Amino acid sequence: MAKKNKIIPNITIIDIAHKGKSIGKDENGYVYLIEGTVPGDVVNAVYYKKRKGLRVAKVLEHVIYSERRTEAKCDHFGVCGGCKWQHFQYDSQLYFKEKQVRDAIERIAMLDGSKVESILPCDDIYYYRNKMEYSFCSKRWITEAEAESNAEITDKKALGFHRPGYFSKVVNIDTCHLQDDFGNQVRNFLHAFALEKEYSYYDYDTQRGLLRNVTLRNTSINEWMVSVIFRDREEEKIEELMSAVQQKFPEITSLYYVVNQKQNDTLYDQEYHLYHGVPKITEQLGDVKYNIGPKSFFQTNSLQAKKLYDVAVDMAGLDAEDLVYDLYTGLGSIALYIADQCKYVLGIEEIPQAIEDAKVNQELNGIENAGFYTGDVKDIFTADFIESNGRPDVVITDPPRAGMHETVIQTLLKLEAPKIVYISCNPATQARDIKMLSESYELVKVKPVDMFPQTQHIESVALLKLK
Ligand SMILES: C[S@@+](CC[C@H](N)C(=O)[O-])C[C@H]1O[C@@H](n2cnc3c(N)ncnc32)[C@H](O)[C@@H]1O
Repeated sequence: MAKKNKIIPNITIIDIAHKGKSIGKDENGYVYLIEGTVPGDVVNAVYYKKRKGLRVAKVLEHVIYSERRTEAKCDHFGVCGGCKWQHFQYDSQLYFKEKQVRDAIERIAMLDGSKVESILPCDDIYYYRNKMEYSFCSKRWITEAEAESNAEITDKKALGFHRPGYFSKVVNIDTCHLQDDFGNQVRNFLHAFALEKEYSYYDYDTQRGLLRNVTLRNTSINEWMVSVIFRDREEEKIEELMSAVQQKFPEITSLYYVVNQKQNDTLYDQEYHLYHGVPKITEQLGDVKYNIGPKSFFQTNSLQAKKLYDVAVDMAGLDAEDLVYDLYTGLGSIALYIADQCKYVLGIEEIPQAIEDAKVNQELNGIENAGFYTGDVKDIFTADFIESNGRPDVVITDPPRAGMHETVIQTLLKLEAPKIVYISCNPATQARDIKMLSESYELVKVKPVDMFPQTQHIESVALLKLK
């Protein structure tokens, strides 16, 4: 029996686990959860704790480096924690994502794994994100190498990502390869300007400091929205910084600032002040245009979102006479995308702001055969609602990571719509829900789609047909 804080030799990494970690097996068959490794690696590691019944170990040294490895592109890899799979060849990332979906269908849904089709890769494996959020911090993360060098740290301020597990520390970022390089230019300019002017940066322990966050959003037609978040209403400094950004980057479509004096960083309840430009940026998927405001949710990989929606449309096999329900519709992006292929589409979403956006976008695109309802799907999608709105021919559902509430699944089972297209960002909850639905539905196929290269995240679309 392995003891804690013991060196375990020759652990072979055999599979991936959640949150970018991997699963390894030692020579006695004990299983470990290990960070910083990829399948095929063999490592000597220290077993230091047990979590949820699993042994957790830390790599001491590599005995064999896996052939699935590649050189990480980013200088911040391993420190910032953003894309944990940069050292994993893209083919292998895809292989293990597809396997994760198949494993979930076999082990959780208890169904035939051969229903899972080959994964749809992403053409751009870097620079694919359309939204990045960076934090200012007065106490940056000091790397182990810096700490060991004993050199005096003079640059303590950072603008970057929170160090995983240490919320009050931020890893300073010079270059991020997830969004178009214009984002790096804006972020680096803000940091350089604020340092030169000696603006104070937010301190997460004392909750003081002028500069808090910056959000950078862009669209596939190259419109940019930049929102700078301040802690204090220091009008002169806000004006000085915003005017400098505007002059340096006149191409920014929407330039906002926010003064957030709350303890938490959420901005849904805060006022966005438009400093320059137009209030919304425009995204386009196929023929449909979406106006995106600073509080609007949008899929973070626009090019792949279109492919994801095309997979869903293909599975739905829509007919011009079809009534479609789009559960968890967000700002109606799928509903509006499919409206020209069906008779009527009806979206349900709990965030009122998103439904407002859906209605604005509906008008923008001159779409008349769509309707949107605000509220929790489990409360709105009821027998009465279905009776007054009609029995759908197709239900498209795209719930959050937690999957669908059991009440919603019961309603779907009673409703008996001929087809359900289930989009998910969590194969485990999708498989759990499919298992419940398989009482009345046959799983026809599942298509994994890679929306987030360099990370362990995976999206999948399943088609279910009434038995
Ligand atoms: C994965 S997103 C999908 C959004 C949209 N289908 C898209 O492609 O952009 C899930 C959406 O469900 C909404 N949501 C989460 N829980 C909900 C609930 N219980 N009832 C209604 N909407 C919910 C979220 O606000 C979010 O917009």
